[in-house]
Amino acid sequence: MKLRLDERYNNFLSKVDNDIESQRRWIINYKKDEADKRQFYFIIERQDGTPCGTVRIYDLKADSFCWGSWILNEHKTRYAAIESALLVYQYGFDFLGFRKCHFDVMKGNSKVADFHKKFGAIIVSEDNDNHYFEITKESVDKMAVKFKDLIG
Ligand SMILES: CC(C)(COP(=O)(O)OP(=O)(O)OC[C@H]1O[C@@H](n2cnc3c(N)ncnc32)[C@H](O)[C@@H]1OP(=O)(O)O)[C@@H](O)C(=O)NCCC(=O)NCCS
Repeated sequence: MKLRLDERYNNFLSKVDNDIESQRRWIINYKKDEADKRQFYFIIERQDGTPCGTVRIYDLKADSFCWGSWILNEHKTRYAAIESALLVYQYGFDFLGFRKCHFDVMKGNSKVADFHKKFGAIIVSEDNDNHYFEITKESVDKMAVKFKDLIG
């Protein structure tokens, strides 16, 4: 909640209420989805255990998963973005078995859009607010090779 309310990070994220009770309700509902394997919310930690962000897998379709709620705070490491993206893809493709992934990026969040394009994601549609991206397991596999020293 602290991360989502932090104005350094929440410009291009859907708004959350500054209300601990509605957050509690959200998490209770989320935990039901997690038990049903419909949603997976992760805290991103550095290898020394310091929490430095969040990321979430949700909207599981027949052949594609969605990810988002991606934030890294001031405790991130230089390549935490690449590492956390690769971990999300590893979970979605290798662990859950999907072949494709979809996600949206708000228009104006061009740095994040560029990050995804460099990873091999393509824009498949747009509306007033968002660009809608897709990426395949094959594209991510190439990035995993490129960054293999980073992820060990
Ligand atoms: C989204 C977010 C987690 C990305 O993390 P980030 O640290 O800003 O990611 P960056 O794009 O700076 O990438 C990290 C590093 O990897 C490098 N990098 C990224 N992709 C790369 C690629 N394909 N090849 C080589 N290097 C790459 C970047 O250049 C950067 O290194 P540098 O600092 O030396 O330039 C972070 O910006 C954030 O929390 N934003 C606010 C919330 C938000 O908008 N979330 C996304 C909603 S869609």
